[in-house]
Amino acid sequence: MTSSLFLLPSITMPITIADFDYIRKLVYDRTGVFLSEDKMYLVESRLGILAKQAGTNSVSRLVAELKKIKQQRFNPLCESIVEAMMTNETFFFRDINPFEILKISVFPELLKQLPGEDTLNIWCAACSSGQEPYSIAMLLREYFPQLARNRVQIIGSDISTAMLKRASSGCYVQHEVVRGLPTALLQKYFRDCGKEWQIKEEIRSAIEFRQINLTEPFGSMPQMDIIFMRNVLIYFDVQTKKSILARVRRVLRPDGYLFLGGGETTVNLDPAFKPVQFEKGVCYKLI
Ligand SMILES: C[S@@+](CC[C@H](N)C(=O)[O-])C[C@H]1O[C@@H](n2cnc3c(N)ncnc32)[C@H](O)[C@@H]1O
Repeated sequence: MTSSLFLLPSITMPITIADFDYIRKLVYDRTGVFLSEDKMYLVESRLGILAKQAGTNSVSRLVAELKKIKQQRFNPLCESIVEAMMTNETFFFRDINPFEILKISVFPELLKQLPGEDTLNIWCAACSSGQEPYSIAMLLREYFPQLARNRVQIIGSDISTAMLKRASSGCYVQHEVVRGLPTALLQKYFRDCGKEWQIKEEIRSAIEFRQINLTEPFGSMPQMDIIFMRNVLIYFDVQTKKSILARVRRVLRPDGYLFLGGGETTVNLDPAFKPVQFEKGVCYKLI
């Protein structure tokens, strides 16, 4: 887990079924994330930490506090409860194969097609603490410096304010930089700041971080050549997945590529996409 919440010892405080249902509905309404009935332990342990931080030994008291708040949108307690229920797991070059596909096939192909001074647009949706867009930016720097210099725009987005703050800072602790990041890239693109490593400005400045809730309109976006939307659809129900994919379709360029997580697919959800098989794995294109 990348959230600082998870660096604290886990504290499990029992929750009533009514409070559990209240939290499930809140999380679903705000994020589309569907917490199944077997996730009660997760709510108990994650909200247990928040309750402790708020100075109480009872999750029920925390939920009672939440219920008193009439306008929950933008309320800090509500925000932190919803954020606590997100899974922010991510790491540099996660599952490596999508990055290999970019390097071996997709970037060379798009580079050939890209007319003159046109910009290549890349969107990392639900990028958590930013390791994914930074991995793409480093890959571009390493293998396509002519493109990286000024012909690429990378947008990293997430619903979580806390994750976006971490992503924009580009700061990672030791155990995060040893997960997936080759030592050579750590030495080349990061500054040792004592307790943390900070990614250098030349990489940070290549990425614009935005708050985007995938269950709502995405806002103004350029047409994307590449969309990474990995390890987030798994948290949504079928209807939500379908409506997100329908909106993704509208921002993906006709020849663009969509990358999903290993356990995710567009098959049986959106017939407008077709899987494209590469030696290193699958991604999706519009039919
Ligand atoms: C498991 S992480 C995936 C991170 C990264 N894409 C990866 O594969 O390593 C899932 C992320 O989805 C975000 N998320 C959950 N619901 C979301 C929503 N409705 N809109 C945007 N992001 C959401 C969470 O905040 C979390 O950071």
